[in-house]
Amino acid sequence: MEYRFLGASGLRVSAFALGTMGFGGAATGGWVATIDEHAAREQVRCALDAGVNLFDTANGYSKGESERLLGLALGPDRDRVLVSTKVHSRVGDGPNDAGQSRWHVMRACEDSLRRLGTDRIDIYHVHGFDGCTPLDETLRALDDLVRAGKVRYVACSNFAAWQITKALGISQRLGLERFVATQSYYSLVARELENELLPMCADQGVGVLVWSPLAGGFLSGKFMRDADAPGDTRRGMIGELGVGHIDVERGYATLDVAREIAHARGASVAQVALNWLRSRPEVSSVIIGARTTEQLADNLAAATWTLSPDEVALLDATSEPVRPYPTWYQRQFTAERSSRNGAPPGAFSYRFTTD
Ligand SMILES: NC(=O)c1ccc[n+]([C@@H]2O[C@H](COP(=O)([O-])OP(=O)(O)OC[C@H]3O[C@@H](n4cnc5c(N)ncnc54)[C@H](OP(=O)(O)O)[C@@H]3O)[C@@H](O)[C@H]2O)c1
Repeated sequence: MEYRFLGASGLRVSAFALGTMGFGGAATGGWVATIDEHAAREQVRCALDAGVNLFDTANGYSKGESERLLGLALGPDRDRVLVSTKVHSRVGDGPNDAGQSRWHVMRACEDSLRRLGTDRIDIYHVHGFDGCTPLDETLRALDDLVRAGKVRYVACSNFAAWQITKALGISQRLGLERFVATQSYYSLVARELENELLPMCADQGVGVLVWSPLAGGFLSGKFMRDADAPGDTRRGMIGELGVGHIDVERGYATLDVAREIAHARGASVAQVALNWLRSRPEVSSVIIGARTTEQLADNLAAATWTLSPDEVALLDATSEPVRPYPTWYQRQFTAERSSRNGAPPGAFSYRFTTD
């Protein structure tokens, strides 16, 4: 297993992490998280054996049951791995039972610690942007949790680039803990964050933890053009709901290329899609989700090989989305200067070549 630094921090995370959104048995957004305690223990063992050192959950997954099962399944191994969880989801009907107010963050953290059966959270995320709470209120609460020894690192999820930059500025001004990472949606069929978020993360030293790397299963390779998704799959149950819109035509063209690479490599399509994410220098860890232990073992086998630069370039070109302004226009400026004077230093300069 490869271990990467989480942004500019000194913390190393496995290139593949285990996501536990499927743990617990409660309905979440139209599909059922089917992984019970026995299966959770199996998945955690499988991940530990592969060298995974980061386990991701959230207080909202199966109404907290995912955290409880993760704590149980880790047992004594908890002390040698990293646990990340999140706060924001509604946990009750009260006016303060959701979001990122100081009141809710402090209480939700205590609840997560209790369910996880641990005395600290290694990476504590705010699950999304809370437009109803001033950022400095949330950042002060998170900082207090770090000072109290209940949280080691703070992070965000599903923020826009400007929201993270604003938060980093507040942290710097007030001397508070800064977001060490963002947990964001990224895959061969969802490359939006390349426009603003990834360059910002590279520039500011913010790590990237990728969620839904297979776009909810679409990139596993088991779905075919012109055929309905099998009903017993998550995609069959909820379609694109929950993982954004997919350009299906480009998606299937990308899958054709991924299938060819998978065939030549004797690997699965899912492994190709996961390894494409690992080829991105900005990505710290790819959070794998699996309904069965067999799927998990298949996905974790991606850690045993890497794509060649030519394979990455082919996948890049086939999956290249339409770029919004000002990305497409800025590229021309940087590309012209790079071709004359050589690429500027910086982790993402390779994205601005002329061809
Ligand atoms: N921060 C956030 O807002 C956020 C949001 C979502 C997720 N997450 C995190 O990211 C983790 C992963 O997300 P995800 O579960 O959506 O990941 P994903 O990789 O996009 O989708 C996983 C699903 O794809 C199918 N699949 C996976 N591997 C397969 C394989 N080898 N062969 C065939 N099918 C396969 C399975 O569903 P079927 O078998 O039913 O097809 C599985 O449940 C979550 O557990 C959670 O920790 C975070």
